[in-house]
Amino acid sequence: MTDSLMTHSLLVCTTCASTWQNGKKVGVSGGEILLKELSQLHQNWKKRSPLEIRAVSCMSACSHACVVTFASQGKYSYLFGDLPSDSENISKTAAAIFSCAEMYCDRADGILGWKERPEPLKSGVIARIPAL
Ligand code: FES
Repeated sequence: MTDSLMTHSLLVCTTCASTWQNGKKVGVSGGEILLKELSQLHQNWKKRSPLEIRAVSCMSACSHACVVTFASQGKYSYLFGDLPSDSENISKTAAAIFSCAEMYCDRADGILGWKERPEPLKSGVIARIPAL
């Protein structure tokens, strides 16, 4: 990987796909399930990863749960949504996120082409924000 000393962040919303009762969150959210799956994959990632995974409480894309963001200094940032976290799809979702994250870390500008992104990240992009 290039830029191995550069920090890349994978932000995972842990409030997404929550169940609420009387104003209180109950049970485990879809975002928490996705974070757990991603954390397990991250530990098993063979390459030295410049990627840090961070839990965040909301990225204001709540109607598109589950939501993650790729961000790094000097690169485009990507906000992805509509990522399934149900038991049938969670492994595929997490693998697709890591596949994209690996490309993101390798690119000097962070640009991820539509054709090269696996589903559900191909159709799930909400925003691509230029670097500052
Ligand atoms: S609850 Fe996940 S983006 Fe708002």
